[in-house]
Amino acid sequence: MKTPHFLQVYQENTDAIRHELLKGLSADPRHGGAWASPKFLYDALGSRLFEAITELPEYYPTRTEAAIFAEHGSAMAQSIGAGSTLIDLGAGNCAKAARLFGLLFPQRYVAVDISVDFLRDALASLQRQYPALEMLGLGLDFSDGLELPPEVGDGAHAPRLLFYPGSSIGNFSPSQALSFLRSVHAACGPLPESGLLIGVDLVKDTAELEAAYDDPLGVTAAFNRNLLLHINRLTGTDFELAHWQHVGRFDVPLSRIEMHLQATRDVTVRWPGGGREFIAGERIHTENSYKWTQAGFEQLLSQAGFGAATGWTDPDKRFAVYWAMT
Ligand code: AVI
Repeated sequence: MKTPHFLQVYQENTDAIRHELLKGLSADPRHGGAWASPKFLYDALGSRLFEAITELPEYYPTRTEAAIFAEHGSAMAQSIGAGSTLIDLGAGNCAKAARLFGLLFPQRYVAVDISVDFLRDALASLQRQYPALEMLGLGLDFSDGLELPPEVGDGAHAPRLLFYPGSSIGNFSPSQALSFLRSVHAACGPLPESGLLIGVDLVKDTAELEAAYDDPLGVTAAFNRNLLLHINRLTGTDFELAHWQHVGRFDVPLSRIEMHLQATRDVTVRWPGGGREFIAGERIHTENSYKWTQAGFEQLLSQAGFGAATGWTDPDKRFAVYWAMT
């Protein structure tokens, strides 16, 4: 049996993280107001709350995407072909990619996440199920663009299949999404059979979208408010959860769900060496989740340099999965 290899490229810089967060929290209301990057939603508890979100009846993306793979997996496999290096961006528990192994027969699996510690258990148990498959766990932050280290190989000997499911692309603005997809296109390497398999959430009725991001059980609210506890630990702020409520609204012209945390009363937040006042109703912008039309997303893929793209959707056209060849 082979054993998985691990490589941690990303090194956390706590000063830079603190600086970024406090800069966002201090931002002037006349210039867009306070914000925090959505990547800080995913501490240990936040990651579990996100998993719980994916089980909610109102949060349709995860199960709709799974249904598309179940229905069209064989057609996808025919288009994509076997024997690639499967590079899983944001692998987490590796479950989504593992479901493709029996369809795509990759010759190598590269699981990418911010920390290899998140990947160890999942890769160890996957290796027992697929003893002959070469596996690499890669700790990499690709939020500012994907650059694969030489350990992944040069991409000239086996086609690369970059896998980016879950509509994580929706958490980038359209211009960020374009530059990210350009970096993914470059990371596909020189072989023309290489490409990107990506899931994207589609524009739909506002009520359905808002229910998915402001569920009656309050799981998404907990996911969003937990960000304040994470920020307290990272920066020494003294946010109190009781003073902040979750807001999840769809902005139709911008085609995005916006998540905010809204002060329920006047609040003073302090941190070592500083602080700021929030007046009642003032918000901290914590996440955008863009919803694409199929035509808009196909154009984005083409602007990023990809060639022919094949798309599959569910019968209600809630979600789409694309295979875009280099
Ligand atoms: C991870 N990402 C695709 C999720 C989304 O739908 O934008 C994050 C999320 N935020 C609130 N609910 C789910």
